Amino acid sequence: MKVTIVGAGNVGATCADVISYRGIASQVVLLDIKEGFAEGKALDIMQCATNTGFNTQVSGVTNDYSKTAKSDVVVITSGMPRKPGMTREELIDINAGIVKSVIEKVLEYSPEAIFVVVSNPMDTMTYLALKATGLPKNRVIGMGGALDSSRFRTYLSMALDKPANDISAMVIGGHGDTTMIPLTRLASYNGIPVTEFLSEEALQNIAASTMVGGATLTGLLGTSAWYAPGASVAFLVDSILNDQKKMIACSVLVEGEYGQNDMCIGVPCIIGKNGVEEIVEIELNHSEKAAFAKSATAVRQMNEALKT
Ligand code: NAI
Repeated sequence: MKVTIVGAGNVGATCADVISYRGIASQVVLLDIKEGFAEGKALDIMQCATNTGFNTQVSGVTNDYSKTAKSDVVVITSGMPRKPGMTREELIDINAGIVKSVIEKVLEYSPEAIFVVVSNPMDTMTYLALKATGLPKNRVIGMGGALDSSRFRTYLSMALDKPANDISAMVIGGHGDTTMIPLTRLASYNGIPVTEFLSEEALQNIAASTMVGGATLTGLLGTSAWYAPGASVAFLVDSILNDQKKMIACSVLVEGEYGQNDMCIGVPCIIGKNGVEEIVEIELNHSEKAAFAKSATAVRQMNEALKT
């Protein structure tokens, strides 16, 4: 199985690293526009193989799309990241041009690939990728919910003093500081609702920390985060390549689901060998429905900005 990652920067290279040491794919190609950069990242990762025991072949190329031919999955991490104080939305103009041109070039060599879009503002970039290519909706997946849900579970684990892996929780809606919706009501620890352990106020604080989770890290690091984003992309790629059919919140085209149309927004999806196998419609309560509708309005406005 072959994965191409376009953009060998912080998120792309971390994703390649996790895919390799977890043996998710047999071949990873990193591509970047910076001369020698992807080659260097690939060589550095390959030199981990003997000490971490993986067999994945990782290679790097500068702008040579022929080396990406016949990829099963293509991850788009090319584009500018946030700087402190910036919103994801401020990246729209520059990243829209990059995402569109990259996808067109990739498709020449990998017409059957499934795309995972990471570049921000991610919901809008995913929508752009879908509209610009006319690809079937199951083959264009935006990664945001996997990361936001992971952050949510981490904050819950810290509050509960329990392992994050024993906690189930999901973030749906847009992948923005004010648009994402951590579903506190449905979060659980070993199957028991976390509302049994945490007060409403504590849960609201955790939800608020989750929503600014990316901005908190951008403030601390001086640029946006990469370990959890890279691992989240690898988690999604694993579910596709190994047909795991995991339920993961992903930004996908909605056609009536959750009362919305003609946009990509985070909803629970079954992810398998065909990409999006199914959108799962969970029963939302009144306030969650209202939050989703508000989030969708913000995503729609962002998509409008794309057209101008
Ligand atoms: P980075 O700056 O470390 O890496 C981006 C790479 O893309 C650079 O190496 C650059 O040379 C390359 N690039 C730019 N234009 C290109 C082109 N036309 N073709 C090929 N490569 C090109 O940035 P980082 O931190 O890796 O972030 C990448 C993107 O992912 C950003 O837009 C960031 O906002 C987004 N992001 C999204 C997340 C999500 O949950 N969806 C989480 C974290 C980051």
